[in-house]
Amino acid sequence: MGNRKRILSGMRPSGRLHLGHLVGTLHNWIKLQNEYECFYMVADWHAFMSEYKNPQVIKENIIDNIIDWIACGIDTEKNSIFIQSHIKEHAELHLILSCITPVGWLERCPTYKEQIEQLKEKDIGTHAFLGYPILQSADILMYNADCVPVGEDQLPHLELTREIVRKFNHHFGDLFKEPQPLLTSIPKLLGLDGRKMSKSYNNAVFLSDAPDIIKKKISGMFTDPKRIYKTDPGHPDICNIFSWFKMFKPEFAPEVKLYCEGARVGCTQCKQNLSEAITKFLEPMQKKRKEIEENKKKIETLLEKGEDIARKVAKETMEMVRKKVWA
Ligand code: TRP
Ligand code: SF4
Repeated sequence: MGNRKRILSGMRPSGRLHLGHLVGTLHNWIKLQNEYECFYMVADWHAFMSEYKNPQVIKENIIDNIIDWIACGIDTEKNSIFIQSHIKEHAELHLILSCITPVGWLERCPTYKEQIEQLKEKDIGTHAFLGYPILQSADILMYNADCVPVGEDQLPHLELTREIVRKFNHHFGDLFKEPQPLLTSIPKLLGLDGRKMSKSYNNAVFLSDAPDIIKKKISGMFTDPKRIYKTDPGHPDICNIFSWFKMFKPEFAPEVKLYCEGARVGCTQCKQNLSEAITKFLEPMQKKRKEIEENKKKIETLLEKGEDIARKVAKETMEMVRKKVWA
């Protein structure tokens, strides 16, 4: 255990988890748990920064998300799973790092500019939201993580973390190491309407969706716009249904392509086949989910275990930080 490199990653509990989370993040987490010592965190304070008007949404989703994590294969024996706000040290480190982080670094962050533009209805022109990446830095540095698995969009946050490390070490003496990004080629899964899959776009298939809901959602998806009649040959490469097939039932994709291009299957039937494939794909996960839901006590126990480990590391880190800062 001691020699393995350490990873920290987090997810905001701002909604139910969907297929995008699964292929974008969770599959990667599952792969990494065999190679690294992993800390997987529910970033509820980060969620609060944008959802402070509906904190009950966060409350409802914390355990719900953890159930999905476990149901899809996150191993609670191998990893430490914890809730960010239960480890108060994150707030203290966040404050100290805030003192050395210039506002300009934060305002320059492309994620910040983008979110302010896109989430106009959310009133996120707050002090805390500007400092979002500082809390993320605190999360990472608290566990002295070697690597952070990130998607392209989170790279600027990691770069900022590295800048903060350099500034901290320069002023107070070497303590933190610069975390490395673990960039994974994340397969691009588009939502039902062809935009990025997201709860706020209302275009997601949730991991816990029942078969009839999956069917209804998929039946409304856009297909090849050039294919007007069933007798028109289709163009699978520009059809989202086909990319979902490639992702969730790859062994079936060549056949779909052949039938589509030869106008041997109609889009309605093709979507029906996809719904069945997705339902089958999610079935084992949903079965496991049910089992876990019936035994919620177990989640409490494993959270306690994860939090004990996280808290111990966090306490040690903060002792070292205070020593450096007030030396
Ligand atoms: N900001 C991340 C996201 O939006 C969540 C997160 C919070 C995180 N703290 C982290 C990710 C630390 C990696 C490391 O998904
Ligand atoms: Fe898309 Fe299938 Fe229709 Fe082809 S047959 S255009 S792959 S939905």
